[in-house]
Amino acid sequence: MKGIVLAGGLGTRMLPLTKITNKHLLPVFNKPMIYYPIQTLVDAGIEDILLVTGGTNAGDFLRLLGNGKEFGLKHLNYTYQEGEGGIAEALGLAEYFAAGEKIVVILGDNLLQQGIKKAVDNFQRQERGAKILLKEVSQPQRFGVAEISGDRIVSIEEKPEAPKSNFIVTGFYMYDSQVFDIVKALKPSARGELEITDVNNAYIEQGTMTFEILEGWWTDAGTFESLYNATCLIAEKTL
Ligand code: DAU
Repeated sequence: MKGIVLAGGLGTRMLPLTKITNKHLLPVFNKPMIYYPIQTLVDAGIEDILLVTGGTNAGDFLRLLGNGKEFGLKHLNYTYQEGEGGIAEALGLAEYFAAGEKIVVILGDNLLQQGIKKAVDNFQRQERGAKILLKEVSQPQRFGVAEISGDRIVSIEEKPEAPKSNFIVTGFYMYDSQVFDIVKALKPSARGELEITDVNNAYIEQGTMTFEILEGWWTDAGTFESLYNATCLIAEKTL
């Protein structure tokens, strides 16, 4: 399976921190944010990785990461997203790289305590479709929220005012090769983005979406508060 780290977008939610650098290059305790999702993929046994980035500081990723030697990689692939057309738009840029294989996608601002290897191995054995990883949180409103019935997800709502559960969709997604056709058929949402939630709902409608619940802590780092939280969690884990 191939891995894709999505680190595009303009990080406008975090100005002025992102005025002169990319959000994913900001520090989370003792490493730049982007190190964590790359390490998560490497720990799951994925060695063929594409980094999608964007904005005015994209060249800095190359200077920082090179060919991924620090992670034990022989090579790292890069591509560039112009503007901020959404997570699904960034994913669409990976079609050529994926070349018909199953993929694991990680948002560049997602960190977790334990790895995703078990889920990745399970998806390897899944004949077709997709798999997402959920986490129960107390404030689900700023995430994609899953409505669950038994062992099935009924639907996902992006940033709902009245969430149907406390189970949010984390930024770890696994897809079969259909995903790129699904992305091509998407229409921009009210906020003008191609939404990953619409991709996931397409798989749910097809009946081929599976899910697992993440163990250990999980956080994003895309707001001032969550970046602070991520730093504290990594510090506790490291010190
Ligand atoms: O962290 C999990 C959440 O991530 C999910 O629960 C939501 O369903 C999903 O939409 C997303 O929500 P956010 O509002 O947190 O997404 P954000 O715009 O902050 O983007 C998250 C990452 O995705 C960002 O660090 C880089 C990548 N991205 C984002 C956009 C908008 C891109 O590569 N390109 C983009 O155009």
